[in-house]
Amino acid sequence: MKIEGKSYKTIWFINNLVKIIDQTKLPHQFVIKDLKTAKDAINAIKTMQVRGAPLIGATAAYGLVLSIIEKNDLSFIKKSSKELIASRPTAINLKWAVDRMMKKLSGVNNKDILKIALDEAKAITEEDEKFCKNIGLNGLKIIEDLAKKKKDTVNILTHCNAGWLATIDWGTATSPIYHAHQKGIKVHVWVDETRPRNQGANLTSYELNEEGISNTVITDNAGGILMQRGQVDMCIVGTDRTLSNGDVCNKIGTYLKALSAKDNNVPFYVALPSSTIDWNIKDHNQISIEERDSEELSHVEGIDENNEIKRVRIYPQKSKSLNLAFDVTPAKLVSGLITEKGICEASEKGLKGLFK
Ligand code: MRU
Repeated sequence: MKIEGKSYKTIWFINNLVKIIDQTKLPHQFVIKDLKTAKDAINAIKTMQVRGAPLIGATAAYGLVLSIIEKNDLSFIKKSSKELIASRPTAINLKWAVDRMMKKLSGVNNKDILKIALDEAKAITEEDEKFCKNIGLNGLKIIEDLAKKKKDTVNILTHCNAGWLATIDWGTATSPIYHAHQKGIKVHVWVDETRPRNQGANLTSYELNEEGISNTVITDNAGGILMQRGQVDMCIVGTDRTLSNGDVCNKIGTYLKALSAKDNNVPFYVALPSSTIDWNIKDHNQISIEERDSEELSHVEGIDENNEIKRVRIYPQKSKSLNLAFDVTPAKLVSGLITEKGICEASEKGLKGLFK
């Protein structure tokens, strides 16, 4: 998608370097950063210079390529793979990508390993891009139906950033919206600001603005009243891990939106590529929910009138904080899962019907 009219992907490889858009600087500064080592990739994931389930998976895949460039030695590569998987705990795409890379590299000799690793990392990014595009084409039908019925602008609420910045291109939740916009369907997006890191306000609103899509940033608590007033036609969110029973783990606050949507008969869809499905865990209590630094809550960053980035504390130093980064929305609150293969019920039967 575009930034200031120029097309970008979120990650690319050139001259033995991995290039990323540093998302901690957006929306005020657009900075392209070089990752030179596996440690750089791990750090970029931990500090959320790259974030979003599919993109951290792709970064981990390229992180392994960087570790081979650094030291073509199996025990070093294995150590890097473990550290990459541990860099963030909740999104399954991270483990999925590293496992896929390590499987491909198993038994390969030192001479060929770099080329094979690079080809596989590229395949992971190209596949994600294709899958996200297809998620958009599948989800487009839902928006088209709403637009036909309503004969007016379709209002869509989304949480966090499941946009192209969270993937390689297109996004998951935003892909149907981009496709609808490109077809000339009038859409407007309610963007949850998504405290504490404000990925909605800082990233989703930014990328929608760059594509010329009408959007309004709202507080995380505003979705309920908008739904009661009939101002939300549908919700679409992304996910970091969807269990085979259809339970959806996503950014903290997603669950409350799904409860509100249920109470107001607003369809609540989750968009995901198959790399986000966890076929192993059966009970959502087994998902490791990331707990992040309390400073993400106690401090906010913004730009002042002199164009200077400032970081300030917003509540007493003495106050305790708990910063859980994800929650789980039970399958019964999800109207459907929009995947690269089609839309299905949020259930084992639904998912197995699409992914044999
Ligand atoms: O903590 P983040 O910013 O990595 O969380 C991102 C989300 O929760 C997204 O909704 C999810 O990764 C889906 S990305 C297409």
